[in-house]
Amino acid sequence: MAQKKVVAGKVSHGAKKTGEKKENDKKAAAKKISTSSANQEEMLLQALRGMRDILPDEQPYWERVRRALAHASQEYGFRRIDLPTVEYAHLYLRTVGVGTDIVDKELYLFNTRGGDRVALRPEMTAGLCRAYIEHGMGVLSKPIKLFSIGPVFRYDRPQEGRYREHWQANFDIFGENDPILDAQTIQLAYRVIQQLGLKSIEFQVNSIGTPESRREYEKALTRYLEAQKNKLCQNCRERLVKNPMRILDCKEDKCIQLTAHAPQSLDYLDLESRDHFKHLLEYLDELELPYVINTRLVRGLDYYTKTVFEIISSDSEGKKYALGGGGRYDRLIESLGGEATPAIGFGLGLDRIVLEMKRILVKPYQEPRPRVFLAQLGDMAKKKSLKLFSELEKNGILIAESFGRGSLKSQLRVANRLGVEVTIIIGQKEALDDTAIVKDMVSGTQETVTHERLVDAAKKILKTNQDLKV
Ligand code: HAM
Repeated sequence: MAQKKVVAGKVSHGAKKTGEKKENDKKAAAKKISTSSANQEEMLLQALRGMRDILPDEQPYWERVRRALAHASQEYGFRRIDLPTVEYAHLYLRTVGVGTDIVDKELYLFNTRGGDRVALRPEMTAGLCRAYIEHGMGVLSKPIKLFSIGPVFRYDRPQEGRYREHWQANFDIFGENDPILDAQTIQLAYRVIQQLGLKSIEFQVNSIGTPESRREYEKALTRYLEAQKNKLCQNCRERLVKNPMRILDCKEDKCIQLTAHAPQSLDYLDLESRDHFKHLLEYLDELELPYVINTRLVRGLDYYTKTVFEIISSDSEGKKYALGGGGRYDRLIESLGGEATPAIGFGLGLDRIVLEMKRILVKPYQEPRPRVFLAQLGDMAKKKSLKLFSELEKNGILIAESFGRGSLKSQLRVANRLGVEVTIIIGQKEALDDTAIVKDMVSGTQETVTHERLVDAAKKILKTNQDLKV
């Protein structure tokens, strides 16, 4: 007789019915999550706006980027540093600056349970300088070259290439004033870009001088813009009071037109900054890098002095994207209470670099494919297979398996699909004898070997196949 079960207050007949009921209940619950009062729950099932998962299919592009970065940082003598993603909010107000979009509009600010006012990092330079001072890195021999990679957060309006969480790689050098370091920094950025196969890249450079020379410049710029204030967008009218140089960064057409003939920072440089910029350009000419001087380039962060630069790519319609940017920040460490320490660096936007790689069809990194498959049949063989897997893997053999499948046929189907060159089979007999069948998938021949001889037997076939290919 069919068993009776009480499900959700109703009497249901038989195991099959109970299964159906459960399925229906599940569907009803899912529907509830996606429709009714459960708005909150619905949101749990999707990433926050402007944040995204970087899925396994996309990882080969990221892997190529990570490898190029690791290679370049090694070549140029950078040491890695990892920084916290959260810092005291004050750090960013003091460095990136009040009046910048990043601080005024884009900072993820919150109070901790302990009452600290903190922020998710909107960039890495401020945290890097905090770490430099906190750990007394000033005593190390100069230049101190640091490399960092990780996510940063900006509460911006999301669109393609603009996310609320994006990844950056930062290269920074502390302790050297010489413009040759500026050129070398740009050279390093170019090296990474080249290694990633990116083309149509332009380096835009400018100098915004020392804070002293900039004061004169800002006065002249404000005078010029004040006279035509009404033609500026609302944002820029506010910027005119708080941070007039940011107006040169505005993307609104009317502001672009208005600032086209505005005074330029290059005309207000003091002797030291002018000399520095002249030498930088000479080095860049010598390197034959694709650079242009962009007199409007001021960068959206307050801490820069003298050299600023951006790495710009353009698509087929001429639309431009900044793949990275940076510059000198010779006063930043001192302004945070450290010893006066010149510094220069840049950040690369990795999400944008990956987008660009895909756009121009750069090849992603190719994961090495397993060339050996391990198949097992029966309980005893299954038990032995984990140990054998680890033995083979420890001996440098990249191996695939399908332990969850019982039938040999379905395991061999997987092996075929992967196109492996060797299949190792342990059946009941082999499990008892501590042996395994080693099958050469190319020639079709097979032999039974002891576990001790297994690694050598597999390697021998792989080598023969390799030799045949050469
Ligand atoms: P940044 O120009 O603000 O510089 O950011 C560096 C790069 O990050 C940009 O050129 C862009 O590629 C990428 N990026 C910025 N915002 C977003 C976003 N919302 N979504 C996707 N990618 C984005 C800095 O952050 C400086 N701290 C760099 C630096 C290091 N300067 C000296 N050392």
